[in-house]
Amino acid sequence: MPRLHVNVDHVATVREARRGQSPDPVEWARQAEAAGAHGITCHLRQDRRHIQDADVRRLRAQVRTLLNLETSLAGEMIELALESGADEICIVPENRQEVTTEGGLDVVAEEARLQEVLPRFAEKGMLVSLFVDPDPDAIRKASELRVDFIELHTGAYANARGGEREVELERLARSAREAHGLGLRVNAGHGLHYENVGPVAALPHIEELNIGHAIVSRAVFVGVEKALVEMLDRIGGAA
Ligand code: PXP
Repeated sequence: MPRLHVNVDHVATVREARRGQSPDPVEWARQAEAAGAHGITCHLRQDRRHIQDADVRRLRAQVRTLLNLETSLAGEMIELALESGADEICIVPENRQEVTTEGGLDVVAEEARLQEVLPRFAEKGMLVSLFVDPDPDAIRKASELRVDFIELHTGAYANARGGEREVELERLARSAREAHGLGLRVNAGHGLHYENVGPVAALPHIEELNIGHAIVSRAVFVGVEKALVEMLDRIGGAA
């Protein structure tokens, strides 16, 4: 069964709606861990629309499982990621206009920049993941760059309807196989929810699922513990 990493960005989104103290994503992360989350993920965006710098520091101090920090390749963000003490860094594309991360990183176009920053994370003993579309060129380039993980973008699968969903699932399956064959570890995430997570969780080689919006939304109605237990059931039941 893949491990479940819970993205707490949207708890901070609600807090930032009033620029106040609550709900606190750090307290929420602790409750998610207590309910069985295997890791906590957050994305410090350049526009600070949800997670703030102080949240990353507090998460680092309080997360007991594994802290995964998503970051863009922008200079300031890389410096903050290097200082964050996160266990795992996931490099994502970032565009200020987007509502959420829209596509995978263009690993081929960003090769030179990645070659600059990757050794700095390795020196600190931080694991690095690249968030990529299920695309053979991106996967090959990620393996040449010798990152630890790729995270397969599951957005196209999540948005697909009817027979298209099977096609997208097969792309994910093929990509996970290719990546694993090239020695990469494989995570997946984006747009996964209680109804669509099962087939992705059942794919071979997927180690971690990063899920945020669906769990935070469910927790509004049933509480953190039940929202986590239900998602863990869906993931476990799929294996
Ligand atoms: N993985 C990555 C790299 C992301 O950027 C996001 C969105 O922040 C997620 C997973 C989680 O997506 P969702 O909130 O749709 O579950």
